[in-house]
Amino acid sequence: MLTASPLIASPHLFGGPVANLLAAGGLTKRAFLDWFETFHQSDDTISSPDQAFDVLDFEPAARKALPPAHFGYLATGVDDDGTVRANREGYSRLQIRSRRLVDVENIDMSVRVFGATWSSPIMISPVSSQKAFHPEGDIAVARAARAKDHLQILSTAATSSIEDVMAARDGAVWQQLYPTNVWEVGRGIVKRAEKAGSPAIVLTVDLQEGSNRETLFRSQTVDKRDCSACHSSSYTGYARGRPKAGSGGFAQYAERKPMFDGLDLSKVTATHPASMNWEFVKRLRDTVTVKLLLKGIVTREDAQMAVEQGMDGLIVSNHGGRAEESLRPTIESLPEVIEGVAGKIPVIVDGGIRRGTDIFKALALGATAVGIGRPEAWGLAAFGQPGVETVLEILRRELKTIMRQAGTVSVDKITRSHVTRPF
Ligand SMILES: Cc1cc2nc3c(=O)[nH]c(=O)nc-3n(C[C@H](O)[C@H](O)[C@H](O)COP(=O)(O)O)c2cc1C
Repeated sequence: MLTASPLIASPHLFGGPVANLLAAGGLTKRAFLDWFETFHQSDDTISSPDQAFDVLDFEPAARKALPPAHFGYLATGVDDDGTVRANREGYSRLQIRSRRLVDVENIDMSVRVFGATWSSPIMISPVSSQKAFHPEGDIAVARAARAKDHLQILSTAATSSIEDVMAARDGAVWQQLYPTNVWEVGRGIVKRAEKAGSPAIVLTVDLQEGSNRETLFRSQTVDKRDCSACHSSSYTGYARGRPKAGSGGFAQYAERKPMFDGLDLSKVTATHPASMNWEFVKRLRDTVTVKLLLKGIVTREDAQMAVEQGMDGLIVSNHGGRAEESLRPTIESLPEVIEGVAGKIPVIVDGGIRRGTDIFKALALGATAVGIGRPEAWGLAAFGQPGVETVLEILRRELKTIMRQAGTVSVDKITRSHVTRPF
């Protein structure tokens, strides 16, 4: 492995600083090679969660673990995936202004949202179909959320029911809502979540039917398995369900998603209908008895409307670049949404958050908390519950590090003055 490695062969390594170190007797060549062997993965993919340096290390491990179409579903954006990239790039355009000589020995990362205290501002965004990533799906995520004390938002298209997830979480989760085109179906999901004890409903408003998920479609062409044996690929298929195909492990996927159980879906033609408008939101507000949030708001105008319509909170999101190819990072939408709500309701942001410094920047621009989507699913796909736990742990550790470095002992001390843009 060593001789085959391009790194060892590289003249840059044995010239320059390493050569100087070796010459100075600071490190024998053997010791260096031992070091290299220990820390360099032969195929650049981690094989256990503890080998990860950062959350991005989980992406190749997830790719390795998943069939092409399932990884394609996880990775895809729309069109050229430009908005997926933009979400990341937005963070690199913001710089941190660190204050010095502050006693930062004790860092408090806790936040309060709707009267509940969370030990960090890192939340788990709703991700559908998680059994496509790992057989334990949302249950493994719930156990990780419990172990690390994080809020989990359950997708309408989750592969486990809210009752089972809350039992695994040993606590409440928020319920995300795709209401379908049939009022009684959306209402049924809301009432079921309320009955289970969910303190908040999150209506996703950024998907109209038919986003162009080209990376997914391409991945499906290279996946030679018969996908229809397990699930429908249509937008309504997951609600309507399909006849059970064959037997064994696949059979569970052939059924409709659990949050649609017991509902009459005979008139469902769309899970996230193109006709949804503010009238619908008003009607939903009158129906939901717990907190109601909108997910997918990216403008000041809509933020103001949401406050006027009595929303309790917003999630600034572009669906992880899976809705429209706006090319606009959510971190750059956040300031105008914050202006729009004028401090009246909490604002959460997701999309492209991969580092503690990203979380810090979002908090500095006024977010109450942040959500992560793909990193959680990479951890799940690669290693199940321990993978998700490690992803969460790494982000917490990185946030703590930057809070210390920037001189901010608690989340409320992170202010707009802690970030700037390049000249
Ligand atoms: C595989 C996958 C499935 C998703 N499913 C849902 C969903 O069911 N409901 C929803 O509101 N958002 C869904 N999202 C969007 C996430 O909630 C979140 O907004 C996004 O993933 C955040 O961006 P990130 O992946 O860069 O962290 C999904 C995202 C992915 C990657």
